[in-house]
This record gives sequence, structure tokens and C-alpha cells, in this order.
Amino acid sequence: MKKALLLAAALAVTTSASAAGKLEIFSWWSGDEGPALEALVKLYKAKYPTVAVDNATVSGGAGTNAKAVLKTRMLGGTPPDSFQAHAGQELIGTWVVAGRMEDLSSLFKSEGWDKAFPKDLLNLISTNGKPWSVPVNVHRSNVMWYNPAKLKAWGVTVPKTWPEFLKTCTTLKAKGVAAPLVVGENWTQQHLWESVMIGTLGAANWENLWAGKLKFTDPKVVAGFTTFGKVMDCANKDASGLSWQQASDRVIDGTSAFNVMGDWAAGYFATTKKLAPNTGFGWAPAPGTTKTFVMLADSFGLPKGAKNRTEAINWLKLMGSKAGQDAFNPLKGSIAARTDSDLSKYNTYGKSAAADWKSNKIVGSLVHGAVAPESFMSAFGAVIDQYVSSRNSAGAAAAAQQLAVRAGIGK
Ligand code: GAL
Repeated sequence: MKKALLLAAALAVTTSASAAGKLEIFSWWSGDEGPALEALVKLYKAKYPTVAVDNATVSGGAGTNAKAVLKTRMLGGTPPDSFQAHAGQELIGTWVVAGRMEDLSSLFKSEGWDKAFPKDLLNLISTNGKPWSVPVNVHRSNVMWYNPAKLKAWGVTVPKTWPEFLKTCTTLKAKGVAAPLVVGENWTQQHLWESVMIGTLGAANWENLWAGKLKFTDPKVVAGFTTFGKVMDCANKDASGLSWQQASDRVIDGTSAFNVMGDWAAGYFATTKKLAPNTGFGWAPAPGTTKTFVMLADSFGLPKGAKNRTEAINWLKLMGSKAGQDAFNPLKGSIAARTDSDLSKYNTYGKSAAADWKSNKIVGSLVHGAVAPESFMSAFGAVIDQYVSSRNSAGAAAAAQQLAVRAGIGK
């Protein structure tokens, strides 16, 4: 008995000693975007009470600012212990090819993640069978948000195609709605472009584009740019000064009828604004994209040289766990990346996204890192900016094609 007690005491000492320490996690989930991450941090602290967690965030939607700060830290040899990066080419095309990330194969094996995540997602986060990051969620990018009561009052329904959207736009303008569509700063315009392009080209051609089998200069893509221009004619003129949250607000307050945004907007509406799905806010697939799920996944990796490696691994274990994912995602507006998540914890929006994730054609998001390397993405913003001011579809298509060649897309 005494021996058993001594052993237990010794074990307790070892556990707390190994758990003491620090952990710095790095992301762009600050302020309005913070609650889901904070829920996860709370779980971590409950499990490892002696670890001081530094929840380092650099605010700015889609990580535009955070990615720049991360770059200086990675190149300067002071990586955070674990950082947010989109699953797919965003991480692989930069920090993995540069040899800066740890191979997570043994962690995936010990946690049973080779079986817990869908095969396609495992492929997205891996090269040559080696996984490089732990996906905490799946977000959908091609969603059109609206305010159900306002649409009713205006007497319009949700358009199912982009030509139908343009007609609805004319109707709304005639009713005095100056900007039927609201968009925000540059990345949200790229986000809209992605939905317009997929809704115009179709999912298969979108895949061909990133496989290098369809050129940006193809007449179909050029026509997609022209449609994007017409859609932008329905939008607010002060776009560049608005964050995605401020754009979402304009749908809720009835200034604009529609916004195309990822389903972090569902998290913002339900968690931050306390609005009820279906009454406080409504949603539909972006026009022309019914039965297509444009996906992205937030994931965290382990940079080589992380100061608090053990704590970072424990963080990754929590992020990949069922309990972690089902604490994080109902607040975030996303669904779990794991296939065994408990759907009773999710609201009506989350349940509908989970059903579509299973039944729809899945393609990857450009703006949120799934299909193209950072070298393409970071330069593509300028193509969109220039297009929005010039409306030169052929010119924009040619510029995008040049970027694609330079970024080695399809190679
Ligand atoms: C995406 C990210 C989401 C959300 C959004 C807005 O890139 O995957 O989780 O944070 O940006 O900032």
C-alpha cells in the first residue's frame, strides 16, 4: 500500500514537472474572431494548469497581417511554438518546402488520426504520405448570407445563379437599395471572385485551373472575370475600408441584401451577435455553386526549433481530439475535421454544413490556402485590385496566367 502511494506521488511529480512551462500559439483569431480559440485554450489550461499560455494574435481577416509577421519570425529564427496555417498549399508550398516544419507522422499514428480525418483532408495536409499540420476544422467559403426579414420586405428571394443575381440586383436598386451586395477589403473581394468563378466555370473547371489543365486566358475564365465585374457593380463603393465583420454587419442592419463570405460569418452572427440561424441570419450556397462545397481548413503545425516542443505537441493533440474540435467548432461556425464529431453540439447552420460536406462535390479555396501556393495568392490581390479599377477582363486573365506559370501551378 505504502509502495503504491509512493509510486503515485512520484508519478504526480513527474506529470506536473513535464507539464510545467510555456506555450505560445500564434493565429489571427483576435477580438470578434476569438471565442472559439479561447474555448480551446481554456480546455488546454484545465488539462495543463501549470503551463502559461501566450495566446499571441495578429488581427486581420484571412491572416493577411499575421502571415507577414509569421514570416519575419520564421526567417528570424524565433518561430512560435505552434501557428495557424491553412491546410494545403499555403503551408506546404512555403514552410514545408523550406524545410521549416516537423513531420507529424508519429503523432498522427499515436493519436489515431490516420483514421479520424477524411482521406481527402489527409491528402491535402500531406506530401509523400507525411502530414505537416493538424486540421482543427473545415470551413466553407461559398456561402451567401442574407437577412431573411429584409429579403421578405423587399420581396426578393435568394438568387440561384449569377445572372439571376444580377437581375435581383437591378430590382433592389430600383427599390432604393444602393448597394445590394456588400464587400469589404481586398481579400474579401478575392473571396467573392472565387465564388463567382466557381459559379460560372463549374467545380470541374475550377479543379482544372489549379491542375494547370485550364488556362486563365481561356475564354471561360475571361468571361468569369467579366461577370465578377458586373457583380462588383452591385456592391458598395467604400469596400476597401471595411473588415469582413463590418461587411457582415451591413447585411444584418439591412443596408445591403447579400454578402458572400466563409462560414466564420455564421460564428460571428451566432456567437458574437447572438442571432438565431434562419431568423436572425439566413444562408444559401453562393449562386451557381449548389451542391459544391468550397472547403478550407484551419490547421496548426509544429515549426522546427519550437522552444516549447512538448507543450506544443500537447496543444496539437488537443486540437485534433474530438473534445477539442467539438468545443471549438460550434462557436467558430465551422464543422469538425474529424468524422466522429457530435452534431448535437452544433446549431442548424453547422448541421446543414455537415450534411453538405458529406454529400456535395468538394473543391478547395484559393483565398484560404487550399489550392495554390502563397506566391500566387499574395500577388493575386493586386490582380483583383487592378481589375476592380480597370475592368479589363482579358488583361486580368493574362496577369493571373503569368502568376500561375511563375508559381508552378500544374507542375
Ligand atoms: C480564414 C480562416 C477563418 C477565419 C477567416 C476570417 O482564412 O480560415 O478561420 O479566420 O479567415 O479571418
